[in-house]
Amino acid sequence: MKREKTHPTLPGLSKNALTVLEKRYLRRGPNGTTLETAADMFRRVADTIAAADRSFDETADTAGLGDTFYRMMTSFEFLPNSPTLMNAGRELGQLSACFVLPVGDSMEEIFDAVKYTALIHKSGGGTGFSFSRLRPANDMVSSTTGISSGPLSFMRVFDVATETIKQGGTRRGANMAILRVDHPDIVDFIMCKADQKQLNNFNISVGLTEKFMQAVERDEEYTLVNPRNGKQHGTLNARKVFQRIVKQAWENGEPGIVFLDRLNRDNPTPQVGEIESTNPCGEQPLLPYESCNLGSINLGKFVAEGAIDWNRLKETVRNAVHFLDNVIEANSYPLQQIHDMTHGNRKIGLGVMGWADMLILLGIPYSSPEAVKLGTKVMKFINDEGRLASRELGKVRGSFPNFTGSTFDIKDAEPMRNATVTTIAPTGTISIIANASSGVEPLFAVSYLRTVMDKNVLVEVNPHFERIAKERGFYSESLMKRIAEHGTVQGIPEVPQDVQEMFVTAHDISPNDHIQMQAAFQLHTDNAVSKTVNFPNSATIEDVENVYRLAYQTGCKGVTIYRDGSRDEQVLSTAKKD
Ligand code: CDP
Repeated sequence: MKREKTHPTLPGLSKNALTVLEKRYLRRGPNGTTLETAADMFRRVADTIAAADRSFDETADTAGLGDTFYRMMTSFEFLPNSPTLMNAGRELGQLSACFVLPVGDSMEEIFDAVKYTALIHKSGGGTGFSFSRLRPANDMVSSTTGISSGPLSFMRVFDVATETIKQGGTRRGANMAILRVDHPDIVDFIMCKADQKQLNNFNISVGLTEKFMQAVERDEEYTLVNPRNGKQHGTLNARKVFQRIVKQAWENGEPGIVFLDRLNRDNPTPQVGEIESTNPCGEQPLLPYESCNLGSINLGKFVAEGAIDWNRLKETVRNAVHFLDNVIEANSYPLQQIHDMTHGNRKIGLGVMGWADMLILLGIPYSSPEAVKLGTKVMKFINDEGRLASRELGKVRGSFPNFTGSTFDIKDAEPMRNATVTTIAPTGTISIIANASSGVEPLFAVSYLRTVMDKNVLVEVNPHFERIAKERGFYSESLMKRIAEHGTVQGIPEVPQDVQEMFVTAHDISPNDHIQMQAAFQLHTDNAVSKTVNFPNSATIEDVENVYRLAYQTGCKGVTIYRDGSRDEQVLSTAKKD
């Protein structure tokens, strides 16, 4: 079969994308010179992932499939998560972004987990943990007749280890810590990032239960439980704890919340274990020792002549599922337990980026009921087609090994290759590579000022906005600069009203609109949706409380908020994450 030519430079590769790739993704020689072009990188990834077909059929001709994958990535219609781009076909070979590790209540288990974290961060993955199994601070330690340090002091050990490692020598390590709301140390946990110098390598979320949420509604006490012996350890007023969480999130964005019962209601393999944590950005609930690789379809590429090209979208979904299932085969796992758990469930996380771009191309304002309706429709389509593709792979390659006893194991069940198919990732870096809006977020800015070499200030303008401004004759460099300084196009008289409505940014839309969009995508996503709900600096504590409740009422699996200016520095924001 004729091979697609490898281009030295790729048409459509933006300058920003090239900078990111050169800095972190391209192979380098010992003296630091880059040994491959962006096109070589995509060829390396495409051929390595296609070659995994041979695990199922030794005689498979994978060259054609390699070309399909190459085209899918170089057209920026689909990109896998960063570790796949960085490591496929290279020595490290670790391809997943998401891991969850168990933290058991003994020194051996805690420090094993620290070591495993180091191995994962070294390879470019992020780790999530539940610290809920650790006995509380000042509890009994029988072996030393001393007292325990508690989850918070051990979290600091993970934090320092992460600081020291720096992922893969390139990517900063990211962690998620979850503590159940009924853990005796919950109040200290809620407050643990109040000092902005603390735990900067962690995102923290409180694991809420339905029981707790009911106690909040009824303004009742709820019981704390010591995980060491399962015994009651006092009670707290649920509403007061909820308000504490909300106030702290209002202060500086954390803690987020996750609804543990919902994560477990959608756990496809309850017979294997309980879900107690997610990955660092919250979109991927996993069992202890499980990993997942993600990939995202760039929706902005699927609008042709003002309409969605459903056929091409369908074909891309199918190829993407094939790609992500192959990643599980091609992957080198940092631990045997992770290999086994990941192969047992074969979870993949196909999601989207460029949602705001798609809406702009279709002429639908992000904060409109029409956009919310379309979000549900697009994600249902991707989820349905993704599952069909997984079933088809299942017929040829077999179901995921833990299928028996899983939620798919019903009468006359068809095979299913992957225990989960869809996840909506933040796409912090891959959206820069694809020159797309990130995940399902609205635009972050219409135009912004960028400082180059500490002095030259360049005005970067959203390409859709620039095109429309030129077509409609209101483009001028001074206007673009003014918009960048103003931070929004809302209320700028030179920008026509309908264009203002189309180009809303994360700060222009209401928190309610953010949640409605998150909920719309969550409806047809197997795993969870990464989304930040932005608040203006002037938002009140009640505004935040309303959004936390709304997230619960609309079926979201968790929520992350950020009030403008509430942290000196936002550690792991959805916009820029590397
Ligand atoms: O765009 P990219 O593939 O680089 O990543 P993302 O979609 O922004 O993030 C996906 C997941 O990668 C996060 O939820 C984390 O689990 C992990 N991640 C990480 O470990 N370290 C980072 N610096 C960024 C992301």
